[in-house]
Amino acid sequence: MGSLPLEAMMPLNPDSFAGESSAVVDFLADYYRNVDKYPVMANTQPGTIRKLLPEAAPELGDSMDRILDDVQRDILPGLTHWQSPSFFAYFPANASTAGFAGEMLSAGLNVVPFVWTASPVATELEQVVVDWMASLLGLPERFHFKGGGGGVLHGSTCEAVVCTLAAARDRALSKLGHEGILKLVVYASDQTHATFQKGASIVGIPPANFRILRTSANSGYGLTATIVQRAIEEDVARGLLPLYLCATVGTTGLGAIDRVRELGHVARRYGTWLHIDAAYAGSAAICPEFQGHLDGAELADSLSMNPHKWFLTNMDCCCLWVANPTTMTDALSTDPEYLKNVGTASKMAETVDYKDWQIALSRRFRAIKLWVVLRRYGAAGMRAHIRRHIQMAEWFEHVVAADERFEVVVPRNFSLVCFRLRPRFMADKAVEALNRDLLAAVNASSRAFMTHFVVDDKFVIRLAVGGSMTEMRHVRAAWELLKEKANDLIAT
Ligand code: PHE
Repeated sequence: MGSLPLEAMMPLNPDSFAGESSAVVDFLADYYRNVDKYPVMANTQPGTIRKLLPEAAPELGDSMDRILDDVQRDILPGLTHWQSPSFFAYFPANASTAGFAGEMLSAGLNVVPFVWTASPVATELEQVVVDWMASLLGLPERFHFKGGGGGVLHGSTCEAVVCTLAAARDRALSKLGHEGILKLVVYASDQTHATFQKGASIVGIPPANFRILRTSANSGYGLTATIVQRAIEEDVARGLLPLYLCATVGTTGLGAIDRVRELGHVARRYGTWLHIDAAYAGSAAICPEFQGHLDGAELADSLSMNPHKWFLTNMDCCCLWVANPTTMTDALSTDPEYLKNVGTASKMAETVDYKDWQIALSRRFRAIKLWVVLRRYGAAGMRAHIRRHIQMAEWFEHVVAADERFEVVVPRNFSLVCFRLRPRFMADKAVEALNRDLLAAVNASSRAFMTHFVVDDKFVIRLAVGGSMTEMRHVRAAWELLKEKANDLIAT
């Protein structure tokens, strides 16, 4: 097949749809079969793809087969392979057969459910799946629709945090007047994700009013009530208003856990909005043995977690729950005539218009994806998925701790292990350089990809277990690789 003549321009032709789409599915099946053979971290020079491609978009279309050949030849070599079983960097971004099927349904149906009328069942399915997820995570009744709260699916935690910050801001400014924005203060720990500060600045919080509170090894780098209370008291004494506190369960750097219940009591005392960011570790809360970390969630105003990390749901999908949806819709609703739902007022009073729960008007049918994942694997399958990775991380933590040249820097909470090479009698500066070299050597080997963090001046290597295809043998191989590179470095 060569280029397509213009008269054949039928971009959604049911007769060729299946063939062309299944060529993509076959391509991906092949990719997954071989993904462990690609260098995990892309070894590509900047500018590579621009050199390979023509200056301008093609004038005539091409066949899907030839396009897939190009993907294989030009695109794949420049990717970092997030689905590689030896991808241990950042956090996992799980793909799965059900997640892909759900994404296909979403992409294929391509509805845009911004108001109820725009696709009633898409809106209502979203309400059902976020309620299902709330139950699976053991969240309090107030985050369920039937408890007066409710959830929504966003693309990322950053969006979720911006929306809740806007809700908290407008709730406060409705009493203070708009000039009051200079008085609003937000609180987070030095381990909180960087997007929190970005979110706060997007909603207009003055940078001088960001309080980044210190954590320490004593609390496993979790934020404690005492330090928050002190910071809030100082601000109140200066006539400022403690607006919003972000607690994290499973921080990005170290997997640390803020004390939700303690922080909740402080937040309640001052009328401060409490958000719980459980982007990564929220998935673990489907297992009863991890639900304790969300204890006190009934004191929070909102909570978010990302099924697109560790919950077998292909990008993108972030669940956000709020206890009082009116605070969100007051801040985010728009009401242009052409979007008004038509129907009886009583019927409409019961419906949700998700455009008022997010930044954009447009939105994807993410609910069907999460629904297919839950239907396909069931709660039991999902728990097995989580526990499998926890066991692998446990094993890894154990072998690192047992090797006297290495140390576990922070005790593991979930499936993230933070460690470093620590030969005895070596100066701190040299230890840092050694670990930087070790990480670089591991990643340059193409056999695994890990990332790092720095805490208390310690350069720490992070091994985040959680890939959909990661098995024990891959974690074992990663450990062998680390030892091999450590030997090379220490010997030289
Ligand atoms: N949010 C993750 C981080 O900050 C990155 C990530 C995004 C991981 C999406 C998985 C999926 O590390």
